[in-house]
Amino acid sequence: MIRAKLFVVFAALAIAACTAARPARYSITDSKTYEAALFRQNCMICHGPEGEGKTLEDGRVIPNIRDGEHKYKTEKDIYDHITNGGNGMVPFRNILTERERNLLVQFVLNDLRGPAS
Ligand code: HEC
Repeated sequence: MIRAKLFVVFAALAIAACTAARPARYSITDSKTYEAALFRQNCMICHGPEGEGKTLEDGRVIPNIRDGEHKYKTEKDIYDHITNGGNGMVPFRNILTERERNLLVQFVLNDLRGPAS
């Protein structure tokens, strides 16, 4: 009886250790940071709630900005794209401040494309 109980305890610990070892994928929806709020307000309408991309009603294909191959890879490329828009994306030059655009570049690179993403 004791052995059966011990087995249950060890099994539970083993499961807990396994789930703890793999960090949960970063969630834009659950995040309380300022950057995530900026994304939800300005970018989600096209890129989707978790940045996974989608096809809009007018047929525009919006890329996934976290997984797969990326067209814009460097800080400068991403910053310029957010600032100037193009190929179906609106420019954020007059909508977001320079600081906010820089925060979003770091957000894309670290939170969405980073190691724990
Ligand atoms: C009107 C719809 C729309 C909105 C709003 C929008 N995007 Fe985009 N986004 C696009 C489209 C379309 C592309 C593809 C552009 C291209 O292929 O050059 C894109 C591309 C991107 C890319 C490059 C993806 C890659 O493959 O490297 C990033 C990063 C990005 N958007 C970030 C943002 C951020 C951050 C915001 C909010 C500040 C935002 N977008 C808002 C439509 C949108």
